[in-house]
Amino acid sequence: MSRRAPRASIDPDTRKSWLRRAYPLVRAHRVLLISSLVLSFAGLVVQVQIPNLVRLGIDDAVVARTADLAPYVWWIVGLALLQGVINYLARLYLLRTAYEIEYDLRNIVYAHLARLPFGFYDRVQSGELMSRSSSDIRAVQMYLAFGPSILVQCTIAVVAFVLMLSINVPLAIIAMATMPVIGVLGVSMRKAIFPVSWLIQARLAHLATVVDENIQGVRIVKAFAAEGRQLRTLAASADRIRWAYLQDARIRSRWNPLLDNLPRLGLALVLLVGGIMVIDGGTTVGTIVAFNSYVLMLQPPFRMLGMMIMMGQRASASARRIYEILDTRSEVTDPPDPVDAALTGDIRFEGVRFAYPNGTPALDGLDLHVRAGETVAVVGATGSGKSTLGRLVARFYDVDAGRVTVDSHDVRTLRLARLRDQVGIVPDEPFLFSLSIHDNIAYGRPDATRDEVVTAARAAGADGFARALPDGYDTVVGERGYTLSGGQRQRIAIARALLVNPPILILDDATSAIDVAVEQQIHASLRRAMRGRTTIVVAHRLSTIGLADRVVLMDRGRVVASGTHRTLLRNEPRYGRVLAAQGAAAA
Ligand SMILES: Nc1ncnc2c1ncn2[C@@H]1O[C@H](COP(=O)(O)OP(=O)(O)O)[C@@H](O)[C@H]1O
Ligand SMILES: [Mg+2]
Repeated sequence: MSRRAPRASIDPDTRKSWLRRAYPLVRAHRVLLISSLVLSFAGLVVQVQIPNLVRLGIDDAVVARTADLAPYVWWIVGLALLQGVINYLARLYLLRTAYEIEYDLRNIVYAHLARLPFGFYDRVQSGELMSRSSSDIRAVQMYLAFGPSILVQCTIAVVAFVLMLSINVPLAIIAMATMPVIGVLGVSMRKAIFPVSWLIQARLAHLATVVDENIQGVRIVKAFAAEGRQLRTLAASADRIRWAYLQDARIRSRWNPLLDNLPRLGLALVLLVGGIMVIDGGTTVGTIVAFNSYVLMLQPPFRMLGMMIMMGQRASASARRIYEILDTRSEVTDPPDPVDAALTGDIRFEGVRFAYPNGTPALDGLDLHVRAGETVAVVGATGSGKSTLGRLVARFYDVDAGRVTVDSHDVRTLRLARLRDQVGIVPDEPFLFSLSIHDNIAYGRPDATRDEVVTAARAAGADGFARALPDGYDTVVGERGYTLSGGQRQRIAIARALLVNPPILILDDATSAIDVAVEQQIHASLRRAMRGRTTIVVAHRLSTIGLADRVVLMDRGRVVASGTHRTLLRNEPRYGRVLAAQGAAAA
């Protein structure tokens, strides 16, 4: 499965309504959608004929006996078959439209997220972001694809009503009498249920985040022996969900009997009024039977009206959140005259001070020189600023004071895209897309051949397990695909970075989840991969530190010592303490 570019994008004009902004997406698939709608309308027109044929059959062939019964039966069977085929095709096209729209929307959001600066993650947690955008995408897709189809189904009411009017005007009005009530009740019920179902969604999402945090942060949870506290949080979250579900059931039990019995009332009315008419000779038995079918046939679309309004509300809220992501632009921008330099990777931090937009100080007078081609291991306690250091090289944020230079260019003077192309960052919890292994590795270079992808995977130690997967490199990973372990994800991410072959490589705890034994196996290839480029590796393990030419020790946002592992161990008590705290001594 290869990734195709989305056919359209969301209209960037934020003044437009969400539907107008989403319109290009629907337009891109209009042939499919319109085919499906036309077919679905044709199917309904055929369906509406059937009760009428039943009426003629009963009146002419059964009651009056002026005609043969068999042709009516054959016609009805024929039309039912035709309707079945048409509906099948209509549904097929509709589902395909929905799938295509979802696919596009997903790719638009993912591509945007991949481009988004880290600044965005300060406000929204990435885990929540992903799970949230998945269900949001589905809500929008459902409405865009199924909304028009429900509308078409409602038009069938008009067609059927016209047909009934042509048969018997008073009875037609009686038969339709309960429909508006069903419509109004359906809408009211949805309105009553909507806030609750919204609550359920939100609480389920919250639960997912709690679970996610526990999985992602399992090391921290364990380190602080916080299992009990986490379990209580989980239980409280589950309790709130149960309460919302109970509310939901309560509201449904109040409305559903009403909604279920109204059509029966309609049937009774048709029988009563129609029966009196038949007795008076005003109409025929066949008409009553046919009208009864219409009453039953028409109520689902009216009930769906309520559903559609609810879907619309949900889709609009979801769309707002998706647009919030898509409308986020980077605060870091290109300078007026950007320098397009091919970098060798001589990195300097000069008196860098930096606090995150939320005010958290991260770097406080950081001075560091990493020579081109050098491999430096960065060691420090959690929160000492190691990750921040890497982010500033790729200029995900701008410094508050001091400067970061690469090859003597202040990063703020370089063309941003060119700079980021030349700085490969592998985070400790890399993000994989719901794409094949191949496409995930080739993410930064979609034109890469399979050979190149395999070479990169080999260097990152990902080739072995990739081959062993059900579809090898074509196995789709992620949400609805194959689940990889943390270490496997990291190796994919390392391969992804190596494939781009950047002069600067930043491994931010990028091997933390890889098995010690496996890490040993890939050390040789990692060492080879680091040769000829500047590598900053945030490390906890002695084995990883061993890959570096030099170690720098960070403490509270600055470099406090630098040297070889041996000299630091001998001369710098803080170094030994940090390593011991991180369990490195044991490894
Ligand atoms: N995205 C962020 N938004 C706000 N504060 C952050 C963010 N990332 C890190 N910090 C804070 O900045 C400080 C340095 O963090 P970081 O560079 O991640 O340290 P390390 O990687 O050494 O654990 C910490 O106090 C941390 O809480
Ligand atoms: Mg970090």
